[in-house]
Amino acid sequence: MKPVIKICYLAIILILISCSEDKNNKRVTIAFSQCIGNDAWRKTMLEEMKRELSFYSNVRFLYKDANGDNEVQINQIRELAKSDIDILIVSPNEASPLTPIVDSLFQKNIPVIVTDRKTSSGMYNAYVGADNQEIGEIAGDYIASIIKHKGNIGIITGLEGSSASIEREKGLNIALKKYPQINLKTRISGNWEKQNAKELVLSNLEEINTLDVLLAFNDQMAMGANESISNNKIIIIGVDALPGKNNGLEQISNGKMNASILYPTGGTESIRTAISIINKLPYNRDNILGTLVIDKTNAKLLEMQYNKIKDQQNDIDKRQQLIIEQTKIYQNQKSILNILISSLVITVVLAAVSILALKSNWEKNKFLEIKNNEILTQKNKILEMNEKLKETSELKNNFFTKISHEFKTPLTLIIAPIEELNKINTFPIEVKSQLERMGRSANKLLSLIGDLLDLNKITSNRIKLNAEYISLDVFIKQILNNFKPLFNKKKIYTSYQRLTKINSIWIDEYLMEQAISNIISNAVKFTPEGGKIQIIIEENELGDYIHLRIKDNGIGINKKFLHNLFEPYFQVNASSTGSGIGLAYVKEIIELHYGQITASSKEGLGTTITLRLLIGDNHLNIEDKARNKQLTQQFENKKLSDNLDEKYFTPIPVINSNSNKFLLIIDDNDEIQAYLKEIFQNEYNLLFALNYNDAKKVLNENYPDLIICDVMLPDGNGLDLLTEIKENPSTFQVPIILLSAVNNQETKVEAYKRLVDVYITKPFNADYLIEIVKSLLIFREQLKEKFSCTNNSIEPGNSMTSIDKKFLTTFQSIVDSNMSNPKLGANYIASEMNISRIQLYRKIKQLLNLSIQNYIIEKRLMYSKKLILEGYNINEIYEKLGFSSATYFTVAFKKRFNVSPSTYKKQSFQ
Ligand code: FRU
Repeated sequence: MKPVIKICYLAIILILISCSEDKNNKRVTIAFSQCIGNDAWRKTMLEEMKRELSFYSNVRFLYKDANGDNEVQINQIRELAKSDIDILIVSPNEASPLTPIVDSLFQKNIPVIVTDRKTSSGMYNAYVGADNQEIGEIAGDYIASIIKHKGNIGIITGLEGSSASIEREKGLNIALKKYPQINLKTRISGNWEKQNAKELVLSNLEEINTLDVLLAFNDQMAMGANESISNNKIIIIGVDALPGKNNGLEQISNGKMNASILYPTGGTESIRTAISIINKLPYNRDNILGTLVIDKTNAKLLEMQYNKIKDQQNDIDKRQQLIIEQTKIYQNQKSILNILISSLVITVVLAAVSILALKSNWEKNKFLEIKNNEILTQKNKILEMNEKLKETSELKNNFFTKISHEFKTPLTLIIAPIEELNKINTFPIEVKSQLERMGRSANKLLSLIGDLLDLNKITSNRIKLNAEYISLDVFIKQILNNFKPLFNKKKIYTSYQRLTKINSIWIDEYLMEQAISNIISNAVKFTPEGGKIQIIIEENELGDYIHLRIKDNGIGINKKFLHNLFEPYFQVNASSTGSGIGLAYVKEIIELHYGQITASSKEGLGTTITLRLLIGDNHLNIEDKARNKQLTQQFENKKLSDNLDEKYFTPIPVINSNSNKFLLIIDDNDEIQAYLKEIFQNEYNLLFALNYNDAKKVLNENYPDLIICDVMLPDGNGLDLLTEIKENPSTFQVPIILLSAVNNQETKVEAYKRLVDVYITKPFNADYLIEIVKSLLIFREQLKEKFSCTNNSIEPGNSMTSIDKKFLTTFQSIVDSNMSNPKLGANYIASEMNISRIQLYRKIKQLLNLSIQNYIIEKRLMYSKKLILEGYNINEIYEKLGFSSATYFTVAFKKRFNVSPSTYKKQSFQ
């Protein structure tokens, strides 16, 4: 138990003790055995007892009425003795039968008070009542006085064995001895009862009518006798003189009875004596109550006195009642006061406890504050150290990344000559095998460096999701397309099946391409020549995931290695070229997509890697696609304002009046477009194309100075577009930069084989791209200058043969005469000159070192000057000369003559 609660309990107990009753006031039990209780005299006795008892709140009062039956009374006393009584008051019905039981209680040290009637042994502590013998004597003397010592008298006695009756009769006989002329003629045993007396008198009426006086031993019997007697000369005397209605005193006043000897009940005195005995106070053994004769002379007075006493008694009762109520109020108030005191004590105790607790809390807080400060200081130190560690780790990482990149160049320089040397067949076998070993090791090193860079991406947590809603078919087909050279080389058959109606999912195209390319790369590595790689997309039963399976029929993986497959550094085959980071990186990417990757395999039968990817975008956070969303939102707004068809929306060209260079950006990725636009819009004019076909349309109508093209286009391959551009005589000289997430050797080699100018892998560095664009444009400018003509005219060189000159003249005349023909182009001229387009292109390139398109533009621009001078407005001119728009004409004009057509017009007419 808590000390506070203990203290509270203690306080409450103390308070309760202080409120408890006085010790001296302990509870006691008084038992009263009444011989008969239904007559007025005994009812009065009981009333008196109760009134007296009301002064003693600690007394328990047990009352038993034997109804005039000895046996009953004996049993009742026996029962009372068992009830832990402190005293017995008894009025024995008859002396002898009751004596043994009363004596036995007395002998057991239970105090006994006999009242009104007595037992025969005298073994009791006290007697309360009048002297019945004296009552008999007084009655005798009184009778003698009223009949002048001479006459006949009769008596009606009480219960024969009751001491009251015996003693009264004895007293009467003693008195009558003094009066010899008085004759006790009749004796009737009335048993104390009125009805008895009435009936017995009636049956002895003849004799009784001869009497002068009839003495009944109680008023009740006297009244019964009176009702039977017809001779009203007989003097009737009773005993008791009980006040109250229909009782003795009233009968005397009414003249129905002549006199009565007062016999007090002694109820009050009995209780007082009992209390004294219990409290061990002095008391009298014989408490004899006074008596006197009451007749017509004093009955009235006594009645009045009695009434007065009764009034006073009522008053006392009322006061008593008031006292009880007041006591109750007092008790209530005392209780409230006690509760208040208790509360006060508890409050004080609690306050003290609270103060103690507060003090201890304050001390604890102080201690905690000190500790807290210490922890805070330590935390700050740790944070500082952490920051330093982070810095160091970042430095290390940066160094690590840089140095890894640095390794790549010398390694490439080692691999390239080894590959060249490998082609020479004349080397002896030992040299050849040495060269092959060197080549393998160098390639392994290159692959390890690639893995190191991937590892760095994982450990530095740099990869972040940038998900878009991607078409599965286009995405997978593009990846397969990238691998085409490799598949062809190993004669691997591939297939792609989508067995679900889900055709698009939210993925980071760049990361997912890396992941899937990595898996396919592995599949190719472990699949023998002529093998099979399948890509199957299915939907799970609940319809919340797609399962993308990449299945090969290669050598397979031993069961015991399967669960480690996606652990960093894990390699099934120690002699394999990689570090084992690849699949861990793949796993990282898939988990970044909130997906799972699993592998199943059977040695000798093949391996299946399954990607479990969520359908929809509920799993993505805003940051996972925020950049796209923002960009998409920008484009959405633009689309609305431009009122363009959503499906074919292409970013509007950026026209920069400070620049005469045009860049064409071919990429369907909104973000890449926005990014390229951001880095180039201040330097160049920008044209955009979203896909393969779009790019072709733009190229038909425009003459970009440089093209930046994605390899994975939604409707085709960037490599194929590259081929088309480089094979087209009108565009072959335009530098092309291929941007691709594909970072494998084969694709790069393929791109350079198709004459790409620069192949840049995503993610790319902006400064790097800017510088490459700049240098390619400068280089092209220099070339142009080398073959360009002076004085605004295009002239054939001196070294030209006459055939060439003739060819050129025909060519020039076709151009000149079709200046406003929109069909004018390589095709048109070739058909006019009856040669193939390629022939025409090669010839013009050879003679003028200029593309046909550029020649036509040049001619048209020169002619436009003439038209300006002739007063045509720009709209008329661009239409006349077959330019696609007034803007394009203005830009081309300014680019060519460093002045806008309107300024040129103004200047010319000045
Ligand atoms: C009542 C009574 C009284 C009488 C007394 C004698 O029961 O009969 O009238 O005086 O008993 O014991």
